[in-house]
Amino acid sequence: MGIKQKTSELQHRMREALMGGGDKAIEKQKAIGKLTARERIIALLDPKSFHEYDLFAKHAGKDFDMDKKYLPGDGVITGTGSINGHPVCIYAQDFTVAGGSLGWMHAKKIAKIMDHAMNLKVPIIGINDSGGARIQEGVNSLAGYGEIFYRNTQASGVIPQISVILGPCAGGAVYSPALTDFVFVVENISKMFITGPEVIKTVLGEEISMEELGGARVHAEITGNAHFFAKSEEECFNQIKELFSYVPWNNMKKADRFSMKPPKKTYKINAILPSDPKTPYDVRDVIRALSDDSDFFEVQELFAANIVIGFGRINGDTVGYVANQPEALAGVLDVDSSDKAARFIRYCDAFNIPLVTLVDLPGYLPGIDQEYAGVIRHGAKVLYAYSEATVPKITVIMRKAYGGGYIAMCSNHLRADFVFAWPTAEIAVMGPEGAANIIFRKEIQTAENPEEMRKKMVEEYKEKFANPYVAAAYGYVDAVIEPKETRKMLIHSLEISKSKKVEIPYKKHGIPPF
Ligand code: HXC
Repeated sequence: MGIKQKTSELQHRMREALMGGGDKAIEKQKAIGKLTARERIIALLDPKSFHEYDLFAKHAGKDFDMDKKYLPGDGVITGTGSINGHPVCIYAQDFTVAGGSLGWMHAKKIAKIMDHAMNLKVPIIGINDSGGARIQEGVNSLAGYGEIFYRNTQASGVIPQISVILGPCAGGAVYSPALTDFVFVVENISKMFITGPEVIKTVLGEEISMEELGGARVHAEITGNAHFFAKSEEECFNQIKELFSYVPWNNMKKADRFSMKPPKKTYKINAILPSDPKTPYDVRDVIRALSDDSDFFEVQELFAANIVIGFGRINGDTVGYVANQPEALAGVLDVDSSDKAARFIRYCDAFNIPLVTLVDLPGYLPGIDQEYAGVIRHGAKVLYAYSEATVPKITVIMRKAYGGGYIAMCSNHLRADFVFAWPTAEIAVMGPEGAANIIFRKEIQTAENPEEMRKKMVEEYKEKFANPYVAAAYGYVDAVIEPKETRKMLIHSLEISKSKKVEIPYKKHGIPPF
């Protein structure tokens, strides 16, 4: 055969492989608003940057007549390309081919592209659309998942790992995403569950829809498994591109530097705090008043709203914000908000992103529900994550910083590099009402007018403790500043912290309260 025939054979084989699961299966996919796996990759990556590998991979199934079946690419597309001009490795499961189920060769392709990502020190993006372990391939499918989970764990904290859930992902198909840094979901399209509705019906006799069991909103709002929620695949891909503008390409690099733009004039930081200390406000207004161009890219916006986390830039460089949200549950730390904050702190620390912490909280949430849900164990994660983090850590105490909340929110004692407090800061063991009731109980009970005495004692307590000056006198606060000075102080403290290096005691690894 000459080169012409060889080329035409190649073209024929390629056409066949590129057909995926065939027109009917593709039509079904399109009818529910889904792009095909290949279209998704093209839409996400920089134009013309995608290069595919292992297109001719052959599946390894032998039983149940599998050896007679042709599964193009074994149901997964893998390759390299770029986003925002930086290289990435990527795979996308093709639901039109055996439901994107994961057989041994399918897993091998994913493992191979993950190995490339680790060797090249570039991010790995997985577009997941899969019925989980391919039932016909038995233990080899499970082995395939094991290989992927192992690689996810090795890559954790070295290269960014992004999971996009774009279909009904079941069984093993949800555990790899759960091991990665950020999970993206799309309304009506994404589903995540360990076992699908049919298995639930068989085993438990319960009828439940896929949406109710593990739809996009379930994971964005309730379970916290998802970090970004979008209304369409297109919006989701734009979110991924935006995320990549904030994070570095691996743990040895810094994020791209952008030219500095001042915050928008609409955000007036001196006017955000209400005059009544009990009135809530949106802490995102403070973040926008501090950030370049008032940009804030929020992570897990719909989950545990009492804490706000996300990325912004200060003087052109990425920072990670962790901020109590007085608008939701007064900004308390509870089980979910502790998990949310701790994981984000560890992400920023692993990828050299300085942390800016904005404090206004009455402490950890009391009550039997929280105690039984493990608020001690979960709350400890915040203490651990901040104490462990060695990136520059700057804290601004805006209003309340009571009790464990004061310590946990990156206090001087957990080795914040700089702690600034606004004159409105109240740093105390607990709120004035609770404190006065306890320490002046006798005086209040025996007073002629207990209510009046209580008010007097609350005032006395406030004057003595509910301010930033006691903490400043001990050096726990580095400077008491007006809100309008905050951005200037952040720019300076971040600038001088650029060469920060902290030695940690030798250990194999710590044992965080997972
Ligand atoms: C083999 C599978 C498959 C699987 C789907 N298919 N899941 N083939 N192994 N795990 C095939 C179907 O047979 C069908 O093939 C095609 O994919 C499309 O599936 P449908 O059921 O028609 O699609 P849909 O109605 O959209 O339902 C999607 C689904 C459902 C919810 C994912 O297929 C489902 O429940 N699958 C099983 C999910 C599950 O329980 N997986 C767990 C596996 S155990 P045809 O030829 O008809 O088009 C596991 C353990 C790992 O993953 C544990 C690691 C910790």
